[in-house]
Amino acid sequence: MPDKKSRHLRSQEWFDNVDDPGMTALYLERYLNFGLTRAELQSGKPIIGIAQTGSDLSPCNRHHLELAKRVRDGITAAGGLCFEFPVHPIQETGKRPTASLDRNLAYLGLVEVLYGYPLDGVVLTTGCDKTTPACLMAAATVNLPAIVLSGGPMLNGWFQGQRTGSGTIVWKARELLAAGEIDIDGYTDLIASSAPSVGHCNTMGTASTMNSLAEALGMSLPGCAAIPAPYRERGQMAYETGRRIVAMVHEDLKPSDILTRKAFENAIRVNSAIGGSTNAPIHLNAIARHIGVSLDNDDWERLGYAVPLLVNLQPAGKYLGEEYHRAGGVPAVVHELMGQGLIHEDALTVNGRGIGDNCRDRPVQDRDVILPFDAPMLPNAGFLNLKGNLFHSAIMKTSVIADGFRSRYLSNPDDPDAFEGRAIVFDGPEDYHLRIEDPALNVDETCILVIRGAGPIGYPGAAEVVNMQPPAALIKRGITGLPCLGDGRQSGTSGSPSILNASPEAAAMGGLALLRTGDRIRIDLRKREANVLIPDDELAARRAEIAGDGGYPYPEDQTPWQAIQRSMVSQLDAGMVLGPAVGFQRVAQT
Ligand code: FES
Ligand code: MG
Repeated sequence: MPDKKSRHLRSQEWFDNVDDPGMTALYLERYLNFGLTRAELQSGKPIIGIAQTGSDLSPCNRHHLELAKRVRDGITAAGGLCFEFPVHPIQETGKRPTASLDRNLAYLGLVEVLYGYPLDGVVLTTGCDKTTPACLMAAATVNLPAIVLSGGPMLNGWFQGQRTGSGTIVWKARELLAAGEIDIDGYTDLIASSAPSVGHCNTMGTASTMNSLAEALGMSLPGCAAIPAPYRERGQMAYETGRRIVAMVHEDLKPSDILTRKAFENAIRVNSAIGGSTNAPIHLNAIARHIGVSLDNDDWERLGYAVPLLVNLQPAGKYLGEEYHRAGGVPAVVHELMGQGLIHEDALTVNGRGIGDNCRDRPVQDRDVILPFDAPMLPNAGFLNLKGNLFHSAIMKTSVIADGFRSRYLSNPDDPDAFEGRAIVFDGPEDYHLRIEDPALNVDETCILVIRGAGPIGYPGAAEVVNMQPPAALIKRGITGLPCLGDGRQSGTSGSPSILNASPEAAAMGGLALLRTGDRIRIDLRKREANVLIPDDELAARRAEIAGDGGYPYPEDQTPWQAIQRSMVSQLDAGMVLGPAVGFQRVAQT
């Protein structure tokens, strides 16, 4: 560990630069104007940024406005100075056309702040879905000492004695509304019951997934991810996180020391065990690309598919965030996986210890909530990576296939892992909503619902729309789910076994662009294949026809950022990153 006094801090180039005293004076001048003293700024104390993702526009992360006070206390107690600054808001439920359009924008903004200002380290305040990957991607690019403080899930939601979980209750409420069992007031009351306090989604949706994976990657202190937002431990964790980042700066412990291939492999296994969101491969592949670790959806299947589901949280299970925390959270899940040799125990974490050392003495506290590895909720909780003439990569979470679905589609004794269906093709979510009830489509239980034009280019940012509800007439007959396939994403709070994140998307002239309603699609889970049953020459003819018409059409740009991102974004399997940004790993090291 370098000597505290001797290590040259990056911030000293601004505030205490003996080679350029004139410039130093100019930098100092304005940062003194709100009461900081020259002695403080020239004391050699690490200057720590708090990357503030909370605001009135970002209710999932708004609690960080309070938590930052405790972070600040911790930074000060450890001998640091604190500069809090805003991160571009990303609110999953508020941003049109989709919050994921803004992940890369927040990333870019944060990179500029971390690189361009006098910061020696940063506390990343995370929570709502894309805030966590945006922050980690930026930390990976700039490679300054960085630590994640998640805001924590909301308290459990309740309605008439039942737990109501974020997002998950929406799918249920929609079914009840479509079936005429509740009206719109009942619908609103039911879904509002799932949000009883500050915090992010209390289910194992994308927020709890990504914060759990940030911890599994080693980027937050042990136990951080699961603490509910209003609990006292959350404020205490904020204080300890502030203390720790100061030490990390002294130790020069950087993201590139932590975000290694081993760390990503650990996170993939934890993702299966927690029943993590199908958004996780997109975001982890993106973080990996920005830190320079190779990772793809084949890795996700190879490392993660066979890991069982251990965590009994909605949408796959019963409980919510409070129980997850009391059962031991991420350290208990890691502990359980360590027992099977599935964790690289030497992977370094932000506290300077290996994840194995952090989790060895953290066994599961409640076996109803985190089940034993040898008696899990479900086997094979990871993702399959399907390929074929419709796409190079699309993932499927087979563990959420319900019994009714399985008996309808996967019960042929001669071919138990395959099914065929008639494609009903929609061009984007608006088209789906417009036409799904159209009797002329003749949708029945032998159909596969396909949505395209929903990927990173087609619906800029990629919409969470693949899990499409069948027409009301089918729901009334008890068929609440049809096989769904698409080039968009799916909410982590949905339990539907869709084939999603198809790459390349239709708007990039992937095979989905060639599909027509009425085509037959064959899915073979054993062979990891999804194909439209059409001869290659006919597909080539269709491709030529669409290309001749100028390619697969998609809506025009509504904002400058949509145009910029569309011009350079990679596909979902490659993390939906900005191509030119991938080459900039570790800029702060130079
Ligand atoms: Fe923000 Fe779920 S909507 S965390
Ligand atoms: Mg979501």
